[in-house]
Amino acid sequence: MDKKVVLITGSSIGLGASIAEKFASNNYNVVINYLTHEKEALKLKNNLEEKYNIECLCIEADISKDEDIKYMHKMVMNTFHKVDVLINNASVSYDSEFDSKIKDIFMKILEINVYGTFNVTKIFGTDMLKRKAGRIINIASTNGIDTYYEYGLDYDASKAAVINLTHNLANHYAPYINVNCVCPGWIDTPMNKNMDEEFKKQEEAKILIGRFAKSEEIASLVYFLSTDEASYINDSIIRIDGGRKC
Ligand SMILES: NC(=O)c1ccc[n+]([C@@H]2O[C@H](COP(=O)([O-])OP(=O)(O)OC[C@H]3O[C@@H](n4cnc5c(N)ncnc54)[C@H](OP(=O)(O)O)[C@@H]3O)[C@@H](O)[C@H]2O)c1
Repeated sequence: MDKKVVLITGSSIGLGASIAEKFASNNYNVVINYLTHEKEALKLKNNLEEKYNIECLCIEADISKDEDIKYMHKMVMNTFHKVDVLINNASVSYDSEFDSKIKDIFMKILEINVYGTFNVTKIFGTDMLKRKAGRIINIASTNGIDTYYEYGLDYDASKAAVINLTHNLANHYAPYINVNCVCPGWIDTPMNKNMDEEFKKQEEAKILIGRFAKSEEIASLVYFLSTDEASYINDSIIRIDGGRKC
């Protein structure tokens, strides 16, 4: 039987790379999308192919650019002819003080995190709809719900928009494609590599489990949402934050 195919945006590093490994270990062929970390994407492809006897396709594409996504779509269809599961994971954040926020950066965050999620979904969701099958999982953040962070207020707004987008997409693709949204709290990924140690300790103290998530712990939930066991989970916003007190 043909293997199932997962496409994970922004899977060169961080959570996306862990999600890629989780699906590969469950016998999926994997589309690894990246923007700048080509070496990491290729290394991941080689590792996963060797370890799990599956096929990976690495594609450089900016999710906010229509032409890039059309190109990615063409490459994926030429190689695998379908996508069974789409994970909208790619995202950016640029922390800065309230008074230093500028329009260009604010708009770039919205363009990538919000428009990029829509852009990729629109083109791959159309194929899923034709086949009347598929799963879409958006990665937002508890920052889009109630864990406000002034330095990243533009990022927080973008994640609230991804949550809202999830509801609209679930409605649009019903009843054939379940669309859900995973909202992690802090995760130990490169996104947080420059975090001040003192700040990290303060944040860990707010979490009942007492530490940031490992990206594999988030990947397990994302994978579960793609399985038959999760067939009745649709249009849900699921937080996974270790029990965090705001
Ligand atoms: N880390 C956390 O604490 C945390 C908490 C809550 C939610 N999240 C969410 O979890 C997801 C993954 O976060 P992470 O921590 O793994 O982030 P990360 O380490 O910064 O990785 C981000 C990924 O997105 C890709 N990317 C960025 N802009 C892109 C674009 N325009 N087009 C295509 N790919 C692009 C990057 O590709 P290149 O590196 O190749 O450029 C990279 O693979 C994000 O949606 C994030 O908002 C993270």
